[in-house]
Amino acid sequence: MALLQQSPKFATTIASTSLEHQQGHIHWRVPSNIALIKYWGKRGVQLPQNPSLSFTLQHAYTEMQLDFRPSSTGKRIVEFYFEGMPNEKFRAKIVQFLETYPEEFTFTEKLHLTFHSINSFPHSAGIASSASSMGALALCLVSLAQKCGIDWGRLETTWQKASYWARLASGSACRSIYGGYVLWGAVPELPHSSDLYALPLSQENIHPIFANFCDSILIISAEEKAVSSRAGHALMNGHPFAEARYQQARTHLKQLLEALAMGNLEKFITIVENEALTLHGLMMNSYPSFILMKPATLAVIEQLRNFRRQREIPLAFTLDAGPNVHVLYPAAFRQEVRNFIDEELVKYCQQNRYIHDEVGTGPILFQ
Ligand code: PMV
Repeated sequence: MALLQQSPKFATTIASTSLEHQQGHIHWRVPSNIALIKYWGKRGVQLPQNPSLSFTLQHAYTEMQLDFRPSSTGKRIVEFYFEGMPNEKFRAKIVQFLETYPEEFTFTEKLHLTFHSINSFPHSAGIASSASSMGALALCLVSLAQKCGIDWGRLETTWQKASYWARLASGSACRSIYGGYVLWGAVPELPHSSDLYALPLSQENIHPIFANFCDSILIISAEEKAVSSRAGHALMNGHPFAEARYQQARTHLKQLLEALAMGNLEKFITIVENEALTLHGLMMNSYPSFILMKPATLAVIEQLRNFRRQREIPLAFTLDAGPNVHVLYPAAFRQEVRNFIDEELVKYCQQNRYIHDEVGTGPILFQ
């Protein structure tokens, strides 16, 4: 049985008009994702030191619209609006991205590109938006390339190109190109897996209990991250535990694939929580050292573990590189877990904020 899924349909038509006369717009909705096996440490050009695995969310997404027309100056012009307002920081990021990989983006060189972007989740919620926003950027650019007459042939290759570009923009974004459970990184057991782009796991290899898993994101702090993602990955260079960590991630990945296929919740919980705490452990014993968990993060973890033991409800937690807690649980326990969050955990959340999310179906192209 194929472990990796056939790529979903790419619903874009290929236009053959010449570049100079082209104008139009492209509109994608791309969700964020939560890593179960963490990508932490990179090499070369945005290549991961170890494979990672995530599921794509449903409700936390970026919507990006790209309007394009021939540039009046004959040179590329980029404008960027975030939630209706010009945003110089994001604009500069896109310009830098396009200029870093000029051979990839020659089709944009004579165009005037105007991006409008919004997030479904609040701007200052402490939720990393780079996966959804850079995923959306990559898909908008792939659709634009197609409208400029570039044809990668097979649909599968087109999705891989989107994931490849998303990876160049922000590593974990390459997993947001697909719905469901997504793998990024070459794994010997999976012949088509690659460090260059992510691939979706076949639904046949996901037990029904995991197919509609829930993720309630508890906003412990919405403060800006103390360490940027780039600096965070760099902490792994020369880290005393680096090699052991990369090996552990590979072992965890293999075990998690088995757990996902078999519906083994116990194994899932053990691996996923260990991955989160390892990520934070690595940051704590890096030089320099970072403690990104807050006292409330630990209080929530303790409460979750007590609740799991006392109520025998199979929930797990995971953490990104920040203090917020993702509570993961089967949809069958939705009510019990959400009641518990409302009764016991909401007091640890900044301004009582949390977001209920779940495994999602992936990006949507609006026609
Ligand atoms: O994609 P980046 O460079 O922002 O790194 C993401 C790193 C983690 O979120 C901590 C883990 C992951 O795999 O998403």
